[in-house]
Amino acid sequence: MSALLTLDLASHDPAAAAQAARHLALGGLVAFPTETVYGLGADATNAEAVARLYAAKGRPSFNPLIAHVGDIAAARRIARLDTRAERLAARFWPGPLTLVLPKAPRCEVADLATAGLDTIAVRIPAHPFALRMMEQFGGPVVAPSANQSGHVSPTTAAHVRADLRGRIDLIIDGGPSAVGLESTIIGCFETPLLLRPGGVGRAEIEAALGEKLSDLPAEQPGDQPLAPGLLASHYAPRTPVRLQATELADGEALLAFGPAVLPGADKAVALANLSERGDLVEAAAHLFGHLRTLDAVGASRIAVMAVPEMGLGEAINDRLRRAAI
Ligand code: TXA
Ligand code: MG
Repeated sequence: MSALLTLDLASHDPAAAAQAARHLALGGLVAFPTETVYGLGADATNAEAVARLYAAKGRPSFNPLIAHVGDIAAARRIARLDTRAERLAARFWPGPLTLVLPKAPRCEVADLATAGLDTIAVRIPAHPFALRMMEQFGGPVVAPSANQSGHVSPTTAAHVRADLRGRIDLIIDGGPSAVGLESTIIGCFETPLLLRPGGVGRAEIEAALGEKLSDLPAEQPGDQPLAPGLLASHYAPRTPVRLQATELADGEALLAFGPAVLPGADKAVALANLSERGDLVEAAAHLFGHLRTLDAVGASRIAVMAVPEMGLGEAINDRLRRAAI
């Protein structure tokens, strides 16, 4: 990806929140302080911005992201909170707790940000700058930790600069993170699940709930609890998917990539192109939406053209392989 000029501002700069909100609205990437760790923020409803975020981090897969919101009303617009979730929200928000909840029916968060899941992770961070920025921006902000994939999470702006300068638009320096450890993630399922231990202790949460938290099975990798591929609800099209297509058969829909025209493409039941110009960031942004569209046309199969195994292509191919199982 091409180098960007990364702007640096202090969080107490009176113009900082408005600048950050403006960058987000333009599809830019903004590293900002939260009380847990620094987050790398993007407009949650802008699939291309989200794709750029994965690329900037060098994430090998589309691990679902946490949607950050400024207040409980905004949380209710993107997720369904049951009694238990409302209780946790009232007790711990704003704060280092993330709730994994069913997506609201009219949730506008891009499918790519939730890795095509029916659930969404939501949190109100307890940081005055983050709250000001979201108030001015006015929509949900997805934010993974602002580090290169594989590195430890950043707790100072210097960590963020070392990892991401030249790859993102703006870094807001708010000094060292108060919590310095990511949020606790609770899955609000039939029984509440501790998906990731973090900034709020188990005992506090159990006390607020009046019940015990269940744990994940031991074989789950700690850093990526409940990976999308392990979830029964992970999105896979109902229509069979055929990969590496070099020609099209009768009754098939075509998921194309790049400018090449496939033999038989003229008789496709439906056609969608991930990126006509062969751009992997654009392709990532379109992937889940296009799969949904083609799944709905009643084709016998979805034939998918090859996508190069480089950059975001690795993650795109990972999801395509899952869709083809
Ligand atoms: O403290 C934090 O949570 C920081 C700050 C910036 O808010 N963010 C953070 O994000 O740690 P990230 O992307 O590094 O970790 C998010 C975790 C991932 O392990 C992801 O798998 C999980 O949340 N996650 C997100 N959505 C999920 C979902 N729908 N179901 C299960 N897990 C989910
Ligand atoms: Mg992280």
